[in-house]
Amino acid sequence: MSLRKFITERKILRSLNLAKENVTHRWNEIASLFGLQDDVFEHPRHIKIHKPVTAILIGAGHRGMIYADYATKNPDELTIVAVADPDIPRRARAKLKFELKKEFCFADWKQVFERPKFADAVIIATSDDLHTQPCLAALDAGYDVLLEKPIAPTEHECRLILQKASETGQIVGVCHVLRYTPYFRQLKEVIDAGLIGNIISIQHMEPIEQIHMSHSYVRGQWKNSNTATPIVLAKSCHDTDIIRWLVNSPAHDVHCFGNLSWFTNANAPEGSTERCTDGCKVEASCPYSALQIYLRDRQRLYVFDLSNDKSKWDREILENLKKTDYGRCVYRMDNNQPDHLTVNMLFENGVTAAFSMEAHVSYEGRRTRIMGSKGDIVGNMEMFRMTDFKTRKQTSWKLKTDPHGGGDHRMMKDWVQAIAQQDKTLLSSSIEVSIESHLIAFAAEKSRLNRTIETVRLFDSSIPMKA
Ligand SMILES: NC(=O)c1ccc[n+]([C@@H]2O[C@H](COP(=O)([O-])OP(=O)(O)OC[C@H]3O[C@@H](n4cnc5c(N)ncnc54)[C@H](O)[C@@H]3O)[C@@H](O)[C@H]2O)c1
Repeated sequence: MSLRKFITERKILRSLNLAKENVTHRWNEIASLFGLQDDVFEHPRHIKIHKPVTAILIGAGHRGMIYADYATKNPDELTIVAVADPDIPRRARAKLKFELKKEFCFADWKQVFERPKFADAVIIATSDDLHTQPCLAALDAGYDVLLEKPIAPTEHECRLILQKASETGQIVGVCHVLRYTPYFRQLKEVIDAGLIGNIISIQHMEPIEQIHMSHSYVRGQWKNSNTATPIVLAKSCHDTDIIRWLVNSPAHDVHCFGNLSWFTNANAPEGSTERCTDGCKVEASCPYSALQIYLRDRQRLYVFDLSNDKSKWDREILENLKKTDYGRCVYRMDNNQPDHLTVNMLFENGVTAAFSMEAHVSYEGRRTRIMGSKGDIVGNMEMFRMTDFKTRKQTSWKLKTDPHGGGDHRMMKDWVQAIAQQDKTLLSSSIEVSIESHLIAFAAEKSRLNRTIETVRLFDSSIPMKA
C-alpha cells in the first residue's frame, strides 16, 4: 500500500492517537500498519550474516521441511548441507529441494554423527520419541541444535539434554514457536512495559478445533499417550511455556483435571464401520468422516506425501484412507488422549493461571484474558485489546498472520542469528528457559492421573546440574 493511500485511511488516526497517548507509537506498530511484517520485531542485535549458517536436517517430515525452508527463502543466512530420514521419498524431496549430494543424504540420524563435524548445527524434527538420542549425540559432536518440542518424552530425558547443553556450552533452541508470533511478542511487550500494572491472574484457552483433534490426537501419531507423549505435553507445552513467559516467575504448584469424553468406542454410532471407506451407514452425517475431511475437503493432506500430479490425488488419498489410521473411525481407535483438560497453576510471585485445552470447538487460535492491577487484556490471537482501569481507554493491536501464528520463520531468524553470533540470548526459547514449560506439563499429567497437586521443581537433586 502506498503512503498516500495509507494516510487517507483511518488506520493513521489510530496510530496518531496511540502516539499521543505515548503508549504504542513504536516502530513495530507503525511498520505493521504498513504491512511491513518482516520488519516488525526486528531484533536490534541482529547483524548482517556474511557466511550462511550451515545445518543438517534430521527428520525431513512436516515440521522439518517448514524450518529448513527458511534456507530456501533466506539463502544468505542458512544453507541445508545434509538430510537424514529413512523415508525414501522424503529424503529424495529434501535432496532435490536443497540440492544435496548423494553422500550427504542419510537413511538414519546415527550416520550423521559417524562423520567428523561438517556443519554448524543440526535441526532435529523427528518424532517425539526420537529427540533425546540425536540431540545428545549432536551436542557431543559439537553441533548447536534446533530441537522440536517436546524436548523429550520424559522429565528425566529433558533434564539430561539440559545438562548436556550446559556441559558443552552448545546452543539448544526449542521450537516453542508461539514465543515468536507477533501476537505473543506484542502481548509480552505490553505486559513488560507495565501497561496493565502487575499481572494478577491469567485465563488462557487453547481451542484445538475438532477436526484438528481428530486428525492428530485421535487418528494421528499422538493418539495414545503411551506410544506418544501426553497431550498436555505434546500439544500444550506451547501454552504452559507462554503462560510461564508472560508471568515471568517460576511455577510452584500445578493441578490438572481432564479426560477423554467423546472419541470412545461407547460413542460409535450404530451402522458405523471400522473404516469410513467400509460402507459406513452414517458417513454422510458424521462430522469426522475421513472421506469428507481428506478426500472431499482435501484438508491436512501433508501426512500422505502425495505426488505432484494432482490428477492422481483422488486415488492416492483413497488408498491412504484404506491403509492408514487416517481412514479409521474416530470412535474405534486405540486412542486415550483427553479431549478436554484444565490446568491450574500457582506461580512463585502469587499469580494464578487457569489453562484450558478444548477439542470440541469449531475454531483454532489461542484465547487470552490477562487481569492486571491497572488494566486488563482480552485477545484471540488475531488481535488483543487492553483496557486501562483509570481512563477506561481501550487500545487494540491487530496482529493477524498465518494459521500457525507466524512464529515458525521468525523463530528461525533468531536461531540463525544465535548460531551466527554464538549468543543464545538472541533466542527467546533456549532450552534453559523452555524446560520449565515441560516440567509444568509433566506435573499436570501426574496430577491428572493421580488426582494430586504437584510441586514443580526446576532443580532436581537426583540429576546434578551446573548453573
Ligand atoms: N513446534 C510445533 O508447533 C510443532 C507442531 C507439530 C509437531 N511438532 C513436533 O515436531 C516433530 C515432528 O513432527 P512432524 O509432524 O514433522 O512428524 P513427521 O512424521 O512428519 O516427521 C518426522 C520425520 O522423522 C523421520 N525419521 C524417523 N526416524 C528417523 C531416523 N532414525 N533418522 C532420521 N529421521 C527419522 C520420519 O521418516 C519423518 O519424515 C514432533 O516431535 C512433533 O511433536 C511441533
